[in-house]
Amino acid sequence: MEKMEDGKKRKQITRHLLFCVSTAVIGSLQFGYNTGVINAPYEKVQAFFKNASLERYGKAMDDCSVTVLWNFAVAVFSAGGMVGALGVSPLVNKFGRRKSMILCNTLALIGGGLMGLSGACRSYEMVILGRLVIGVFCGLYTGLTPMYVGELAPTALRGAFGTLHQLGTVIGILIAQILGLEELLGSQALWPLLLALTVLPAVLQSVLLLFCSESPRYLLINLQQEAEALKVLVRLRGHEDVEEDIQEMKDEAEKMAMETKVSVLELFRKSSYRQPIIIAIVMNLSQQLSGINAVFYYSTEIFISAGVTQPVFATIGVGIVNTLCTVISLFLVERAGRRTLQMIGLGGMAVCALIITVALKLVMDPCKQQTENPCGAAVVNEVLNNCNSTLAATANVGQTSVVSYLAILAIFGFVASFEVGPGPIPWFIATELFAQGARPAAVAVGGCTNWTANFLVGLSFRTLLGLCGPYVFIIFFILLVLFFLFTYFWVPETRGRTFEDIATGFEKAVASGPSQPSQTRGVGTLPLSPTEKVAMV
Ligand code: GLC
Repeated sequence: MEKMEDGKKRKQITRHLLFCVSTAVIGSLQFGYNTGVINAPYEKVQAFFKNASLERYGKAMDDCSVTVLWNFAVAVFSAGGMVGALGVSPLVNKFGRRKSMILCNTLALIGGGLMGLSGACRSYEMVILGRLVIGVFCGLYTGLTPMYVGELAPTALRGAFGTLHQLGTVIGILIAQILGLEELLGSQALWPLLLALTVLPAVLQSVLLLFCSESPRYLLINLQQEAEALKVLVRLRGHEDVEEDIQEMKDEAEKMAMETKVSVLELFRKSSYRQPIIIAIVMNLSQQLSGINAVFYYSTEIFISAGVTQPVFATIGVGIVNTLCTVISLFLVERAGRRTLQMIGLGGMAVCALIITVALKLVMDPCKQQTENPCGAAVVNEVLNNCNSTLAATANVGQTSVVSYLAILAIFGFVASFEVGPGPIPWFIATELFAQGARPAAVAVGGCTNWTANFLVGLSFRTLLGLCGPYVFIIFFILLVLFFLFTYFWVPETRGRTFEDIATGFEKAVASGPSQPSQTRGVGTLPLSPTEKVAMV
């Protein structure tokens, strides 16, 4: 077969590749859907908790117990996510990427089934247990999808394909926001169906996965099935000129054969893994500790204060900005590079966090008094409610609307900046920074860090808001600046480089002695060869 032009060959996208990747991205859609689905019908589900206890014990739960139970139902999702993320490594090592996804879908059937039947069984325990199982399911998928997609994608398009996981996630959130409208499935009667709907994509994906290829890297490096790997690769690339890819995998396989199995602990013990695992951990922390989910949660309240009569539609507006900006990132990531987009995103978020602080300060000032309340979470509600009524009363003064629109713009900017870099990039960075042997353990650690931070922000934000009031976003501002500096000094550019090249770079860096922050500053900016670039980190 005639050799193709290099650039053309590397960028070729076949129908089969798109089919496999789109099938895997249904898992990302599931993660987004289950993240967003709980917000819209929360009042109905809480009312159900109350009614179910009244029917069972002849006495309705008090508001505080309902709040505690509700917070628990929300928190178990992230707790399940942490467990699921850690499960990625043993699962893919034993069953491969494709079969792991099929197996994982049984959890969606169990979790979705429990939640769907909870209404008929009058059991709030089933809602909580269902959310836990769905959390484990989503935790697994936040590792499985980026790993499978990253291993199938041509090197030159790995970042763009990697961003598809976040695109699937944000579309899932948007679908949940829309279906959660009271007029659709967010009603008193239909919320169990809304929660159970996750079963359908799981069934669809399991069927489609039967027609997808296993990752050629898994076939060749883990199973030593070279002929099968070659066949798959030819099908994915649409041409037979795949020797370069096969050779690169063989080199990796040789190296892997010399290593002992890489466990999670090994990642921290071996010096050549230490730096990339720290980068993967910090980048995942930057995604969650940026405060993105705090903004997602509070956007509705801020819209109310802006006098928007249908805040739920404005919140859907946030979902749309979120989705559009992820699409933009998809096209930018191979041009601008991961490092640049990560820094632009973090910087933009930091600026917006400051504007949100100013806006919150002006919005919340009339509400300094906090009412004593035995149920911690309700204190903040009280503060916000006071705010909103004060704002409504002063709406005619004119100042309020300007401030509130400033808050809206800042929130849109915050979300847009997030999706440019800190949203999509951390999900696939662990896949890129490690070669086959250490990849599953690294993806597990990165994912578990992400879910833990998500859990902590969810758990503490209301208390922090109670303690810091309008200054709460200063915490995120400081963290964002620190993450920006970390990225500037320590994160190498991985765009256009093979897995093997990236991993070798870290090994060379260790061999050539301790790294110097001043040297790493040049990473991604100096005209060095890719290997030299990472060797300097
Ligand atoms: C990322 C985060 C998730 C967040 C979402 C918002 O996927 O992991 O927690 O809700 O982005 O788009």
